[in-house]
Amino acid sequence: MTTMKEQLERAEQGVDTLLRTRRDRWYPTFHIAAKAGWINDPNGLSYFHDRYQVFFQHHPFSTEWGPMHWGHVSSSDLVTWRREPIAMAPSIEADRDGVFSGSAVVSDDGKLVVYYTGHRWRNGVNEDDGNLQVQCMAVSDDGVNFHKLGTIVECPDGLLHFRDPKVWRTGDTWYMVFGACSADKRGQVWLYTSQDMHTWAFDRVVYEDPDPDVFMLECPDMFPLGDKWVIGYCPMGPRPQGYVGRNGHNAGYVVGSWQPGKEFHQETDYRLCDWGHNYYAPQTMLAPDGRRLVFGWMGSFTLPVATQAEDGWCGQLTVPRELTLGEDLHVHAVPARELTALREDTVDFGSFELGANEDKLLLEDAEDVEIELEVDLTRTTSERVGLNVHKTPDGHHTFVCYDDLAHRVVIDRRDSGKGDRGYRGAPFTGDHLSLRVLVDRGSIEVFVNGGQETVTSFSFPNEGARALELTSESGTIAVESLRVHHLRTIWETPDR
Ligand code: FRU
Repeated sequence: MTTMKEQLERAEQGVDTLLRTRRDRWYPTFHIAAKAGWINDPNGLSYFHDRYQVFFQHHPFSTEWGPMHWGHVSSSDLVTWRREPIAMAPSIEADRDGVFSGSAVVSDDGKLVVYYTGHRWRNGVNEDDGNLQVQCMAVSDDGVNFHKLGTIVECPDGLLHFRDPKVWRTGDTWYMVFGACSADKRGQVWLYTSQDMHTWAFDRVVYEDPDPDVFMLECPDMFPLGDKWVIGYCPMGPRPQGYVGRNGHNAGYVVGSWQPGKEFHQETDYRLCDWGHNYYAPQTMLAPDGRRLVFGWMGSFTLPVATQAEDGWCGQLTVPRELTLGEDLHVHAVPARELTALREDTVDFGSFELGANEDKLLLEDAEDVEIELEVDLTRTTSERVGLNVHKTPDGHHTFVCYDDLAHRVVIDRRDSGKGDRGYRGAPFTGDHLSLRVLVDRGSIEVFVNGGQETVTSFSFPNEGARALELTSESGTIAVESLRVHHLRTIWETPDR
């Protein structure tokens, strides 16, 4: 094989070629995306040399998934991001067909140590005869240039899926979980341990999804939150049930108790991390101040994404979110508090009542904004408390609402400009509705009542200004407060 240096040069040229014809109608203002090309899972989230390091699965040669590289961006404050060179490319036999997902930790001797899955197709071409997947290690002195050390965990005999190492340290011991498809086709999380970061020993199968349809758990994560432990994972194979599991790919979690050397005791059922169309492969990290942060991937493996055809880029990460554990053992997620620094030109609509069957124009062009809406539901009779988002002159828009009949907070793309339609909804009951809605140029993230639930979906508007409206149906809306902030670009050099 050619050296990694040569592969990385080719990859950068691939991105530059696509960049020349990139279309920006839906390119995000305040979400991480590749300059051009395809991205999926966030990888290697870490804090190293006083900067947040965010890597991601990246195909630099097209807007489709392909031989995986690790793209890279970094930030000192979680708000303003710098583009870094592509960090890793396939270059050794073990990762011949892809440098798959993984994580990063800082070693005691001050290196950024990366664990990832080296991926090969068994037949050399595609998945028909299964995968050959091993866990690999790479190290970096500066966080930018990586030196591969090769395979550190071989694939046990007979496993066709074995990937996505997530590493952490508890006490003096390093732990690694990854996803596996067992010999009898059950989705499992395997746990290994190490004292020296190089030699890894099997500890146990720490979790198995009880659903017999689930054959593989992608991108597992295992981390303490409050006084519990969370196992996050992305089950492959479950059937949709009501509002749950409607996407080709869905991410969820269970909460329980765990101590080193012991079993994991599950204390909750499986729950979705997010109820929207486009949230997958989340990975968490610890911020220097001890907060648990998460980034998810907004994309789709199964349905075409509107940017794929002509725009030269595909996929973005969610904004960073802070996780906390609710008393009900639900994981709550809000935008990282740093993100308020992106706000500018705030428009304050104060408190008011919207009459029955009315549309109130809030902004004529709201392509990258944050909406903060507080509603007294005890004084609200509207069947739905609605926001028309990305509303273009032709009338197309995406409908975000609280539906008082279904008791759900919904993103409905029935009338969206381009792309996949369908609706999704998170459960909500209560007398007071509090929504934070992040609207970027091609996406919407809704945070319900302090992050009890979230709903994350693409939204691709048609040509023209993108208006924002508040809308009522067959009743009135008692707005306690409503503010809309413009959000500025996250890029250090404003190349979007
Ligand atoms: C999940 C995933 C991972 C894998 C990577 C490949 O989105 O399929 O399991 O490592 O993407 O790009």
